[in-house]
Amino acid sequence: MGNIRSLLSLFLVSVFVSTSAAAVGLAKQGDHKKKPLATIHVMNAIPNPIRLHCSSGQKDYGEEVVHAGAEYQIGVEENASSYSCDALWGGLWFANWNAFRPHKDGSRKAVFWLAKSDGVFHSWDNSTWVKEMVWLPF
Ligand SMILES: *[C@@H]1O[C@H](CO)[C@@H](O)[C@H](O)[C@H]1NC(C)=O
Ligand SMILES: *[C@@H]1O[C@H](CO)[C@@H](O)[C@H](O)[C@H]1NC(C)=O
Repeated sequence: MGNIRSLLSLFLVSVFVSTSAAAVGLAKQGDHKKKPLATIHVMNAIPNPIRLHCSSGQKDYGEEVVHAGAEYQIGVEENASSYSCDALWGGLWFANWNAFRPHKDGSRKAVFWLAKSDGVFHSWDNSTWVKEMVWLPF
């Protein structure tokens, strides 16, 4: 009887240990594939396509053509890292800006950028816009 009891408790202990190990493993895995901290939206309100290129300290997102009326998105994955974008309009006009500034945008879930003919505008709510950059000759 004593033997069976100790075998049973050994079994229960090992089940407990292995399930907690599995739970820790899952939590680690979950941390690794975490949701973006915020989303950067870049919308093109110019009647022509723009060539957009964004990068962070660690990642280059490459160049994308954003057509008139289209929206481009990037998930912010690095805490305390700046994201910058530059855009080329018609091969004639150029703008570049800090698309995500940790000290300013850090607590926001979304940062919106709107490319218009008279400049590039910033918003946190996709409705109140502040012009931050003008187009410069390329
Ligand atoms: C990101 O950093 C800020 C401080 O710079 C901190 O308050 C916040 O909790 C951090 N967020 C994550 C998800 O690490
Ligand atoms: C931002 O606003 C525009 C125009 O109202 C809308 O088309 C777009 O879907 C909005 N984007 C998001 C992410 O809310």
